[in-house]
Amino acid sequence: MSNELKHLAIIMDGNGRWAEQKGLRRTKGHEAGAETVRAITTYCAAHPTIESVTYYAFSTENWKRPKHEVEFLMKLLEKYLKNELDTYRRESIRFFAIGDLSRFSDSLRERIAFTQEETAGNDRLTHVLALNYGGRDEIVRAARKLIQSGEEMNEENLGRHLDTPYSDVDLLVRTSGEQRLSNYLLWQLSYSELAFTDTLWPDFTPEELERIIEEFSARNRRFGGI
Ligand code: FPP
Repeated sequence: MSNELKHLAIIMDGNGRWAEQKGLRRTKGHEAGAETVRAITTYCAAHPTIESVTYYAFSTENWKRPKHEVEFLMKLLEKYLKNELDTYRRESIRFFAIGDLSRFSDSLRERIAFTQEETAGNDRLTHVLALNYGGRDEIVRAARKLIQSGEEMNEENLGRHLDTPYSDVDLLVRTSGEQRLSNYLLWQLSYSELAFTDTLWPDFTPEELERIIEEFSARNRRFGGI
């Protein structure tokens, strides 16, 4: 049985180490990491089966980083969304953000809302950024919404109240040698295949992703069956 990859999730790890190894500031690693997001998204948009790619860009724990690094990441995100809009239009990419956005600045939230509205009709690839995102936080917020709706508590109804209005994850890739989920997409990863690579995120390429996808395609996913 071969696997069809529709939803790819990525934990982009190793920007800081990449920069430190080169004697650069950590922020240079994030800048280089943003270029990798660009290259991987273009690859996914051209891929015959991938429908969505979800990147872990900022976790609920990332606020603990030094203030200047957090501020740099916020500015980088805003600039990135501004710069990418033409590409999203040209390549028919729909942009979507998940997570608790309430803690971000007005200008970043407006940029996110604008990019989502402008790309809402695009249908080649859904490009999701998880921002101020935590898997447990998402489940708690969904449970709250379900209780408010008065609907019956079951998997299907709870699933509909999650931030992610699309399918389960088929494959999770994490870079930089760490082998943890780090509170990422806990609900959606239930039956996902996992792939880990030692490559640091700024060095990750579409060619390496292709090799990982080939290996994934050969795996036998049984979803609890035999
Ligand atoms: C992990 O590397 C990376 C992050 C916490 C942030 C991810 C952000 C980017 C790739 C750039 C911004 C993204 C966009 C879309 C503009 P780390 O800093 O934890 O690295 P380390 O583990 O080596 O310290």
